[in-house]
Amino acid sequence: MKEKLEQLRQQAMQALEAAPDKKALEELRVKVMGKKGSLTELLRGMGSLPPEERPKAGQMVNQLRQELTERFDAREAAMEAAAKAERLAAERLDVTMPGKRRPAGGLHPLNRVLDELIDIFQSMGFDVVDGPEVETEHYCFEALNVPKDHPARDMQDTFYLGPDLLLRTQTSAAQIRTMEGRTPPIRMICPGRVYRADEVDATHSPVFHQVEGLVVDKGITMCDLKGVLEQFAHEIYGPETKVRFRPSFFPFTEPSVEVDVSCSECGGKGCRICKGTGWIEILGAGMVHPNVLSGCGIDPEVYSGFAFGIGLDRLTTTRHRISDIRLLFENDRRFLEQFAR
Ligand code: DAH
Repeated sequence: MKEKLEQLRQQAMQALEAAPDKKALEELRVKVMGKKGSLTELLRGMGSLPPEERPKAGQMVNQLRQELTERFDAREAAMEAAAKAERLAAERLDVTMPGKRRPAGGLHPLNRVLDELIDIFQSMGFDVVDGPEVETEHYCFEALNVPKDHPARDMQDTFYLGPDLLLRTQTSAAQIRTMEGRTPPIRMICPGRVYRADEVDATHSPVFHQVEGLVVDKGITMCDLKGVLEQFAHEIYGPETKVRFRPSFFPFTEPSVEVDVSCSECGGKGCRICKGTGWIEILGAGMVHPNVLSGCGIDPEVYSGFAFGIGLDRLTTTRHRISDIRLLFENDRRFLEQFAR
């Protein structure tokens, strides 16, 4: 009996050390200590022993059972620890490795120039207002001193959405809405999209952008207009830029001017950008027509004002030497990425 037990012990110990994984170890445990296992069988065989030897044999079997149980448990724990260490090694993260770069978005060049422009006017005390792109004829034309049959309407042919609804051709409509809603002093700019029935080419687009400006107060004169617009041109194009005011016509201002700056590309000598003239037109302006003021309930005997309309697309293309206005609308990333900082 004793030998059999010793033999079983040695076999079991060997097999236990050799077991490659937990599954094999568990199978071995059943084979040795399960209900039909070899140790259990030995226990059953005790019946054939003389009665006086039985207690001793029982003790030895129990001792071996206990020893084996401990070894099985220890081996199992060692296997688990090894598996865990292996898993941790495989999952190790190198936090010093460079991360994946996500491309950052950037501001559209139009928005960059607009932000700059807003800064300039805000520093002069202007606030920024918004106006609807879908307008009535009243706000887009009539209140701006452009009656139904006025020839100025031809130059601003647009998209009609109904008998009295259209896509605004000029941000000037926002002047009227502002004057109707406020009492002077007024100093505002209104940036936004405008629409005209134009064919697309390098300098035309049926959608483009303007920034309207309006100042109304007591005692506003042409000197204020010149001072503000000269300051603006110098901040945008640089202090050495020359600014000139040419007489012009707009139905809603009297007198009216157009403002040119010396071409920053050629310094005024004449080039492709300025079409050989040395000058680039950047805006229209004028003293607000008395009819427009009184139409909005502002007494032209008491108040006066000036207004201006800046072409934002042209400002952007000349500022950044962009040769074709279509580039501003095509969303070609190769173009846009040049402006993302
Ligand atoms: N609305 C004019 C245009 O689209 C630009 C303009 C000219 C606006 C003179 C003004 C202004 O406010 O006073 O051509």
